[in-house]
Amino acid sequence: MRIAIIGGTGVYDPRILSNVREETIDTPYGDAGLRIGEYRGEEIAFLARHGFGHTVPPHMINYKANIAALKMLGVERVIATSAVGSLNPDMPPGMFVFFDQFIDFAKSEVRTFFDGGEHGVVHLDYGEPYCPEIRGVLYEKARKLGIEAINGGCYVCTDGPRFETPAEIKMFETLGGDLVGMTSVPETVLAREAQLCYSSIAMITNWAAGISPTPLTHQEVVDIMEANGEKLRSLIMATIEDLPQERGCGCAAAGVDIPWLDEYKKTHWR
Ligand code: HPA
Repeated sequence: MRIAIIGGTGVYDPRILSNVREETIDTPYGDAGLRIGEYRGEEIAFLARHGFGHTVPPHMINYKANIAALKMLGVERVIATSAVGSLNPDMPPGMFVFFDQFIDFAKSEVRTFFDGGEHGVVHLDYGEPYCPEIRGVLYEKARKLGIEAINGGCYVCTDGPRFETPAEIKMFETLGGDLVGMTSVPETVLAREAQLCYSSIAMITNWAAGISPTPLTHQEVVDIMEANGEKLRSLIMATIEDLPQERGCGCAAAGVDIPWLDEYKKTHWR
């Protein structure tokens, strides 16, 4: 299985897969529940980041189990979706952004598979945290489909689950952030360690706190995501169809082997 989709808020069923089966993947970090189906004869994994009924808040997501599960299934490329607020006047609600940088303000997660001891320590390069090859295809396909999109942008990750204060948003703007969300960074960082290509389709659902003329609600985020579900699906389908078989980027080389995942698989999977 080469490709996985991670659905964020508002994306609980990709509705592009056939012969879908539910699987619980046993990993050293706990179980990861996902769906495996086919698209154009190819097996694809779909994981709902917040659970299939949006029951898992950002700070409770088991990112390590999720990314370990995808790695153990043999996935090489991850296309994720994320709902984001915008702090950039050139990035209005409704637009898609394929961000290329992040600033990490989420501190509740330990975002490494390498905790020292027998697993050792790694310090990896994150000069290009999001796969440029997938981003390129996403952007090209978005343009062909007439979807308003920007290739590049800086994502600021917070812990959530609360929305930000206007003062925090002002600070993020000063620091060069364009978009704000609560989940993308831990996933991106672990995916890099695991040698996966990772890219995110950010759907701007609202102006960020203090810029939005109204108080923020989770419902408006979900509503905008749902209203754009069809566009998102077409974009994912077109992108999967056009990704080259072999990876031409540096994502795999930028990560490291995690040998204990293979060992666990040998001893725990039947
Ligand atoms: N802040 C944080 N996360 C979000 C937002 C926001 O404004 N919109 C969608 N996810």
